[in-house]
Amino acid sequence: MAQHRVCPWWLGYILINPLRRLRQDPAKLLAPYVRQGMIVLEPGPGMGFFTIELARRVGPSGRVVALDVQDRMLQRLKRRAARAGLLDRLDARLVPPHSMDLKGMDAAVDFVLAMYVVHELPDARRFFLEAAGAMKPGACLLLAEPKTYVSREEFEAELGAAAQAGFQPLEPPAFAGSHVALLKK
Ligand SMILES: C[S@@+](CC[C@H](N)C(=O)[O-])C[C@H]1O[C@@H](n2cnc3c(N)ncnc32)[C@H](O)[C@@H]1O
Repeated sequence: MAQHRVCPWWLGYILINPLRRLRQDPAKLLAPYVRQGMIVLEPGPGMGFFTIELARRVGPSGRVVALDVQDRMLQRLKRRAARAGLLDRLDARLVPPHSMDLKGMDAAVDFVLAMYVVHELPDARRFFLEAAGAMKPGACLLLAEPKTYVSREEFEAELGAAAQAGFQPLEPPAFAGSHVALLKK
């Protein structure tokens, strides 16, 4: 499976531009899947275009575990969450590239958002296995990849890795400019 280079930190600023909302609205995308009290896992949050909405939706009793390899992304994400009054429910962690390091989170996660990140990971199969281990039975993982960077064949290879980890495809939502899959554990 092809691995693309890690998104440079400065692109993080472009990805949080509010104009992105005109085509890709986090609230509309996440509303059917994320509710109060949930534990949500978000690998590769960048500066948090989706994380802020996730944190709003899980409410004060929920938690968003956001894992990134770049501290600059996480620092900016935390500042944005603090400004929005949502830092209390955000667990932002710096992780090594090869593993999400999810010790102690077995079968704890209600929902995973993998937005524009799996193509940057060194081992998609390992990612899906780790995610499945952390997810509750029946929990869903929403996978999206940008059509501009990830070919249909590469996306199919990611779906193959997800299937090997035991995920079942459900009817995915539409999301502009993206390959999308909704995967159930
Ligand atoms: C293209 S950005 C997407 C950011 C965000 N999900 C969005 O859609 O706006 C990819 C993010 O994944 C992070 N990333 C890359 N490799 C990673 C890895 N092995 N583990 C965790 N995060 C990673 C990058 O640092 C970057 O923040």
